[in-house]
Amino acid sequence: MKRFLLIVALLGSICAWGAKPTVPSIVPAPAKLEMTKGTFNMKGVVVNCDPSIDHQALKAIRQLADRLTLVSGKLTEVASPVGLPRVVEKGNLKGLYFIQDNSVVSEGYKISVGPKATVVRASDYNGFFYALQTIRQMLPKEIYGKEAAHGANWRIPCCEIEDAPRFGYRGVLLDCCRHFFSVDEVKKVLDVMSLFKLNRFHWHLTEDQGWRIEIEKYPKLTEVGAFRNGTMIRREWGSNDGIRHGGYYTKEQIRDIVAYAQARGITIIPEVDMPGHMVAALASYPELGCAGSQPQPYQVLTYWGVSKQVLNVGKEETMKFLEDVCDEVADLFPGEYFNIGGDECPRDEWKTDPDCQAKIKELGLVSDENASAEARLQNYVVARMQKFLATKGKKIIGWDEILEGELAEGATVMSWRGTKGGIKAASMGYDVIMSPNIYCYLDHCQSTDLESEPFCITTKPERAVTMPKLYGYEPYTDIPEGDRHHILGVQGNLWTEFIGTNEYLEYMLLPRLMALSEVQWCKPENKDYERFIKDLQQHELPILEILGYNYRTPDEIR
Ligand code: ACM
Repeated sequence: MKRFLLIVALLGSICAWGAKPTVPSIVPAPAKLEMTKGTFNMKGVVVNCDPSIDHQALKAIRQLADRLTLVSGKLTEVASPVGLPRVVEKGNLKGLYFIQDNSVVSEGYKISVGPKATVVRASDYNGFFYALQTIRQMLPKEIYGKEAAHGANWRIPCCEIEDAPRFGYRGVLLDCCRHFFSVDEVKKVLDVMSLFKLNRFHWHLTEDQGWRIEIEKYPKLTEVGAFRNGTMIRREWGSNDGIRHGGYYTKEQIRDIVAYAQARGITIIPEVDMPGHMVAALASYPELGCAGSQPQPYQVLTYWGVSKQVLNVGKEETMKFLEDVCDEVADLFPGEYFNIGGDECPRDEWKTDPDCQAKIKELGLVSDENASAEARLQNYVVARMQKFLATKGKKIIGWDEILEGELAEGATVMSWRGTKGGIKAASMGYDVIMSPNIYCYLDHCQSTDLESEPFCITTKPERAVTMPKLYGYEPYTDIPEGDRHHILGVQGNLWTEFIGTNEYLEYMLLPRLMALSEVQWCKPENKDYERFIKDLQQHELPILEILGYNYRTPDEIR
């Protein structure tokens, strides 16, 4: 038996040495990947790190080394940081090297794999982190497991990789309000985002159907606002499943999730959606509502759609509430952006509310052909929150409705009602994140054959977001050359009205998140749907299996 194993191992290494290396399946596809001759053995490799690499990157490097030791069965040692020369000549090196190289662009990295030495260069944490993700994808899928796989071939093909993202903002939104998801599930989403080099997690934390974040000054937001008395069944208006639903994240849990994301190169952008989508807050503090609001008493909504019940922004008390809430939320999230929502705010109640009308008068707001006085009242809310958040060092992002009327300089617009809002905002000089529902809404059905899929929000086949449709999205479409620098990036949105379980959440996210990652990361000339599907089939879907994700098998490989 031993002799047989020896012969198999010998044959394996001869094949590995002589065979033309196959191009590794890396998603998103690197900007430049050139195969060269030979392979590099990662089993038992000695890792050497430039002493100027920061401790967080060192920690990520050690994690890969520890995992390699576990799965390959041979110690992968990280040598104490050594004084590596600035110019590392590969010819006289042996092992795996990580070099701080400030000439590499932010989030970019270079990997040079030779038969004796592999050299990785980056200038910042995300660059090193992404290089490690790429190396993982070049290794057998067992690197993602926690089981020994001593027989696997721990050699990676020799090649030269130079990689950097096309867009700096590569996001996913998760709605934890329509349905609440546990800390562990949120972390699982962050994990899979980081595998595919996404770097922004837009966390939708407040809604008509549930308030999900602890606010010390307003404890009823979570005592009352975090729970609803049941949920409507499918699209049966007036129905209720009778199951109390809810939950919220404590400040401690949020700090933990923020740190977890940071270690994966992800910045979390919180959203406090205002002045609409606030019924859960109104159920907690009814005094913040408009006169004559119906139905009363306010209740955390058990059904979907756009509510006419909105905040009474004519009252100073309401504005103070918003500032207090944003103050506490901003303190929890170290990123530079804060999302203030602004979408789907019917202004009917403001038309008859005495406080709102008095405020309109006080501010001298008028209706004209461009906007109503009430739309301008919303502009006032946005401008005031923008000013307030600036004192906290934050820039605002809002849904494309914030373009109606007047919008102050420095706001970033998230284009969701198709692409026109983003095109217009960029032409007006605002920064833009493209998240058009027709391409980027991950709650939409994944097949035009709606009947073949689990129940979801989509009722018309043409509204399906199939994987080829998402993959084919080109964010610069109809954006003149001179405005393109305003397009910060692209985001996929996972709203959860009809998504109540972890399994279904993952099914809707995967593998479309991988298609999204190529829209966000790759220049058009590096995208190739056929290659992408092959990569998924050969490598990325098996990785998801090992990691225990649920996903939809793409039509092309069914
Ligand atoms: C949205 O989908 N209402 C932003």
